[in-house]
Amino acid sequence: MLDFKPSPQKPLLFFQQCSAYQASLTTRIHTSSGTEVLVKHEGNRMGLGSFKGLGGIYAVAQLISDQWEVIHGSPLEPSELLSSPVREMAQSISFVCASAGNHGLAVAAGARLLGASSTVYLSQAVPDNFEKALLAQGAFVIRSGNTYEESMAAAMADANSTGAILLADSSWPGYEYPPSLIMEGYTVIAEELKKEFERDVNWPSHVYLQAGVGGFAGAITYMIRHNWPVQPIIYIVEPEFAPCLKASHEAGKPVNVAGPISTMGRLDCKEPSIIAFNILQISQVNYITVSDKDADDATHKLHKNGLSTTPSGAAGFAALLKTETLHTAQANQAFKPMIFVTENANTCIE
Ligand SMILES: Cc1ncc(COP(=O)(O)O)c(C=O)c1O
Repeated sequence: MLDFKPSPQKPLLFFQQCSAYQASLTTRIHTSSGTEVLVKHEGNRMGLGSFKGLGGIYAVAQLISDQWEVIHGSPLEPSELLSSPVREMAQSISFVCASAGNHGLAVAAGARLLGASSTVYLSQAVPDNFEKALLAQGAFVIRSGNTYEESMAAAMADANSTGAILLADSSWPGYEYPPSLIMEGYTVIAEELKKEFERDVNWPSHVYLQAGVGGFAGAITYMIRHNWPVQPIIYIVEPEFAPCLKASHEAGKPVNVAGPISTMGRLDCKEPSIIAFNILQISQVNYITVSDKDADDATHKLHKNGLSTTPSGAAGFAALLKTETLHTAQANQAFKPMIFVTENANTCIE
């Protein structure tokens, strides 16, 4: 089993070479009951509409760097990753993945940036906007199956038959290194926040992390527990139709869940990432589910506050609203919640 010990400095050094990189904004809004909420808005990240660019682009770069080292016998400096010799070598490398939308965009953008090619498998449930955005990033797009899991099986079969590098954002026994790089890329988000909170001395008391397979929630939780001097209560937020991390926590081992399709499309994952599961099991987190209606209401409330997102992007806010009364009633404990708007509304219309 892989020992996940990420270094945010590695992706940060790489992203500092990329013109599209800048820290995402943290803003403040108020709930109708007056609670001030810190909002880390990932909707403009890397020009791709969600935080996922940090994972997929960095993982593509790192996997190409690994190949360079195998061929040339010495590692690349981050400053060399975007150079012509590396792009030339990368022309012979293909990446393949399945995606509910955003991860595919990240892999396609990474492959394009580094000079490689990409194929992205989408289930029929993924909105057409993603397909158009993927084609614009130069990816080959293949529709396969009705669920994310079916598109994943097709991506794996493709990798086996073509020799393309499978770059999944989930992990399972025997497949941990590529998704661990993706999660290492996400650690940049927690590092940006740490710098900001140190400067403003304004640490959140409660952090709400929405989860699909759990890569995002696992990476941010790891960084909070290992790297933040002030510890918040952490909520892992899942759709009530896809609570794979909560069910796995309760079972004490990774388990799959069954259920109808959720309108929180990017969170509708029925099978957890084992790296994320392992981190969350030892990180003292709480689990909460939100309904499609909760997420829909939260999306509209964020919209009224000038923050445009989808139910997947608003799920953390939905969980905050569900727990607000409980926390504001605890007079001995300050309630300074933080949420993540993980995507903007333009990438996909749900
Ligand atoms: C917008 C958005 N939010 C949250 C998530 C959940 O991330 P993870 O699958 O790593 O748990 C995703 C995953 O694709 C996403 O696209």
